[in-house]
Amino acid sequence: MSHSLYGKSILDLTEMTKAELLSIIELAVAIKAQPDDYRQALAGKILAMIFEKNSTRTRVSFEAGIIQLGGQAIVLDSKSTQMGRGEPVKDTAKVLSGYVDGIMIRTYSDQMVQELAAQATVPVINGLTDHHHPCQILADFQTIYEVKGKLEGLKLAYIGDGNNIAHSFLIGGSLVGMDIAIATPKGYEPKPEFIEIAQKNAAVSQSNIEISHNPVKAVEQADVLVTDVWASMGNEAEQKEREAVFQEFQVNQQLAAFAKEDYLFLHCLPAHRGEEVTAEIIDGTHSAIYQEAENRLHAQKALLVTLMQK
Ligand code: CP
Ligand code: NVA
Repeated sequence: MSHSLYGKSILDLTEMTKAELLSIIELAVAIKAQPDDYRQALAGKILAMIFEKNSTRTRVSFEAGIIQLGGQAIVLDSKSTQMGRGEPVKDTAKVLSGYVDGIMIRTYSDQMVQELAAQATVPVINGLTDHHHPCQILADFQTIYEVKGKLEGLKLAYIGDGNNIAHSFLIGGSLVGMDIAIATPKGYEPKPEFIEIAQKNAAVSQSNIEISHNPVKAVEQADVLVTDVWASMGNEAEQKEREAVFQEFQVNQQLAAFAKEDYLFLHCLPAHRGEEVTAEIIDGTHSAIYQEAENRLHAQKALLVTLMQK
């Protein structure tokens, strides 16, 4: 089976159409239901995985995923490779392309990943950068679809930092026709360039994009309620300062009461209970965080098959 995204890189969710995104979710659901049907889907293929930031879920789900599809992974970190000693990205991209069939990278700079993808002759997958986390949002959409039976027409409220997760929800949600309401403290809004992309998508999909500093208004009548850490990887030095600024943006019982009665709570994890979300909410009956984490495996297997299977 040949997919329209075969051989392409996925650095953020602007790189796929609504139909392509939905077909990945559909494939993820099929792979989850019948994993044995896909045991040889990527037989003999090798995925290089580069980590310049920590990871539990991305590391294990990608490695388990490629193995379950019949392939293998090679895990690299910048410290033990020549990348850490300043070898040009171009040379790394060209050299790795001669050895492996795909590259997954988790790093800081989006620009670096763009250069890597431009120079590589194999697909490059963004496993989290400062501005995007597309694989997380694919897994989240699969989870929302499993629980709610649809994506289009739902309202998703994201409360907290206008970070990589917020950007990927903005782009992906507006593409599939979800209403996206984001509430952040002043100075922590999503980047204007990604809001603009979302507004353009929303004009096509007839959805609403609402960026505010008002968590209650954002959560009102939401079907899905999402938050993320206040200080992402790379912002650790601002932890204390952010704790003070973000107090009113905690997802707790009082705030969740404004959502729909059957709201779904998601968090990409790792979480800080008592900071961005109370234990009562994240460990409560509306939360699907472990299903969401498991779906990283299925959604990424679907993505790997889509990009790497001829
Ligand atoms: N959600 C997520 O990407 O988790 P890791 O940082 O553990 O990979
Ligand atoms: N926004 C978080 C997500 C971690 C999976 C970070 O970038 O650290």
